[in-house]
Amino acid sequence: MPTVTLERQGRIGVIVIDNPPVNAMSWGVPGAMIARLAEANAGGALDGIVLMGGGSGVIAGADIRQFGQPWPAGEPNLRDMITAVEASAKPVIAALKGSCLGGGLELAMACHQRVAAPKTMLGQPEIKLGFPPGAGGTQRLPRLVGAERALKMILDGNPISAIQAFEWGLIDAVLEGDLPAAAVAHARAAIAAGGPFRLVRDRASSPVPHGLFETARAEAAKRRGPQAAALASIDCVEAATTLPFDQGLAKERSAFEHCLASEDSRALRHVFFAERAAAKVPGVGEDAKPQAIASAAVIGSGTMGGGIAMCFADAGIPVRLLDADPAALQRGLATIRRNYEATAAKGRISAAEVEARMGRITPVSGFDQIGGADIIIEAVFEEMAVKTEVFAKLDANAKPGAILASNTSYLNVDAIAATIPARAGFVLGTHFFSPANVMRLLEVVRTKTASPQTLASVLALGRRLNKVPVVSGVCYGFIGNRMLEGYVRQAEFLLEEGCLPQQVDKAITGFGFPMGPFAMADMAGLDISWRKRKSQSAARDPRRRYSPIADQLCEQGRFGQKTGAGWYRYDKGSRTPLADPAVEAMIVASARSQGISRRDIGPEEITERCLYPLVNEGARILEERIAARAGDIDTVWVNGYAFPPWKGGPMHWASRLGLPKVLASITAFAKIHDGWDPAPLLVRAVQRNEGWPS
Ligand SMILES: NC(=O)c1ccc[n+]([C@@H]2O[C@H](COP(=O)([O-])OP(=O)(O)OC[C@H]3O[C@@H](n4cnc5c(N)ncnc54)[C@H](O)[C@@H]3O)[C@@H](O)[C@H]2O)c1
Repeated sequence: MPTVTLERQGRIGVIVIDNPPVNAMSWGVPGAMIARLAEANAGGALDGIVLMGGGSGVIAGADIRQFGQPWPAGEPNLRDMITAVEASAKPVIAALKGSCLGGGLELAMACHQRVAAPKTMLGQPEIKLGFPPGAGGTQRLPRLVGAERALKMILDGNPISAIQAFEWGLIDAVLEGDLPAAAVAHARAAIAAGGPFRLVRDRASSPVPHGLFETARAEAAKRRGPQAAALASIDCVEAATTLPFDQGLAKERSAFEHCLASEDSRALRHVFFAERAAAKVPGVGEDAKPQAIASAAVIGSGTMGGGIAMCFADAGIPVRLLDADPAALQRGLATIRRNYEATAAKGRISAAEVEARMGRITPVSGFDQIGGADIIIEAVFEEMAVKTEVFAKLDANAKPGAILASNTSYLNVDAIAATIPARAGFVLGTHFFSPANVMRLLEVVRTKTASPQTLASVLALGRRLNKVPVVSGVCYGFIGNRMLEGYVRQAEFLLEEGCLPQQVDKAITGFGFPMGPFAMADMAGLDISWRKRKSQSAARDPRRRYSPIADQLCEQGRFGQKTGAGWYRYDKGSRTPLADPAVEAMIVASARSQGISRRDIGPEEITERCLYPLVNEGARILEERIAARAGDIDTVWVNGYAFPPWKGGPMHWASRLGLPKVLASITAFAKIHDGWDPAPLLVRAVQRNEGWPS
């Protein structure tokens, strides 16, 4: 149960909000806070009030779990709490620590003064969930920091530091040392000095730079993704500069309610919760304590190994990097350095930090030099024989209890684990995405043998590496790549049936992906999947439809951007895809040779043909328990494949469209094309009028 307490320190009352873990404004908190404020104001015992969070010291915003749920009748809310603070006859000073975001900052801005510990971060991140601040943030922030800075904070949603906040006038002091004691001392001094304790609502807005709102609207209109929350935020901040405070507040309230009820916001909140739910893994309970990981080793210093080593170095974990080929090791190290230097050139890290991170990566030449690592991740060639040879060497060299992980994209990790049975409890897959140091998704591939502790350790490590770990069972391609296959297949069939690569890509970017399948393939390189197809060609079912165009491109040396041509052509030094008549000719010839008559295909069919396979395969993945829940699949696709987050991921998107509609289209496609058998789980969900199983 949340509590709010009032403690007297001389003539200062200290109100502490205690609602672990982050002191969110859940039901009950505002009411209790209002009661403590009234007590503090009663009688003449106190001169002023310090408001702070208990435990971590954070004053958080709304309890996001309670978003969209009806607020209990008669129960005061955050806005009532803010009204009570502003009505307090005694000055209220907010003491901030940790993060002060959203409603937490809105409450702080309603106080008479704000002080913060030096490491505090302050921000209005609401836009990331698809709505503007809703408890006065758009009205008070511009009055404190000016419209331009307020607009930036609200539109990008990123927090600023306490030092920056002090320089901008958002807070009144940065306090070193023990925050409660320092805040009480500050309150005494401020009261002795007579304030000032002017409420933010009573301040006039500072002059607005010419064209600020017009420029902001033009930029918002170019934004990828939902624009409603951005445009509403701009309108509200503008209102703060033109309307009386209470009218601005009313405008903000209606904008907030409107955006909160939107599909975009609903999807963004789904993504937010799905990411957190993915951390809860069936069979991995509280008793599975993560083992300490103080050092790591990575085998293979190619595209992935180099990126994975950077993840460790970035997180402050020393890592040894081993490659069978000394030249590849040198190339790998040089690439890592180049990447860090590019980051430093953009001003994101210092030159000293480049050296510190490089200093955590130690190149080594033999397996005997990696035996001390707590975790060893292999990222060698995607061949079973090479992988098992590496695991045999790990078995011989790794210390007892070391976690041994494979970065394989497709291979059977159970089979890899079975080659070293004595260590099978410590073997699993860690499927990073390229570029590994940038992409947030980490598929943790759960072998039959991996112990709960091994899984718990890798999940905890994933979070330390700033990743979003999602557990996948073992199957070909795991969650993400397995679903990708159907998407790419349909995209290629659409070409033979009448589209050009640019039409398919346009429909997919129109849906919200940053790139369509053909531009993406050109960027990733066509040769990797070509090699894979060639190695599997003997096993291909001749009754299944097969589009040969991708193979033909590779046979002509068109591997994508790196060779200046793939599905598109590229001018020298440019990454802009240009339509290529030669590719069109190949497509037309391929259709003719297969007796396919090409027709006009609109964006709606393109979207359904490419994206419904994700839903259908997702349903199979759910049924097979490869993914524990539909939200895990959405988390994989949003974080690893750039599925637009404001559509919530493929499974959420399908639910919102209506599973009967999706099934009807899949059934109709199945009558014409191959590979469209509806997933039994989808059929059952529709028959029973249910959603995805939870
Ligand atoms: N490239 C991607 O986009 C991507 C994404 C996810 C996963 N993966 C997977 O990651 C793994 C590595 O892929 P990559 O693209 O980094 O390959 P890569 O060819 O860029 O690098 C592989 C490196 O492993 C080294 N190597 C090969 N055999 C070795 C051995 N026995 N001992 C030590 N080093 C050895 C090679 O010299 C090379 O430097 C593969 O399993 C791949 O499927 C790749």
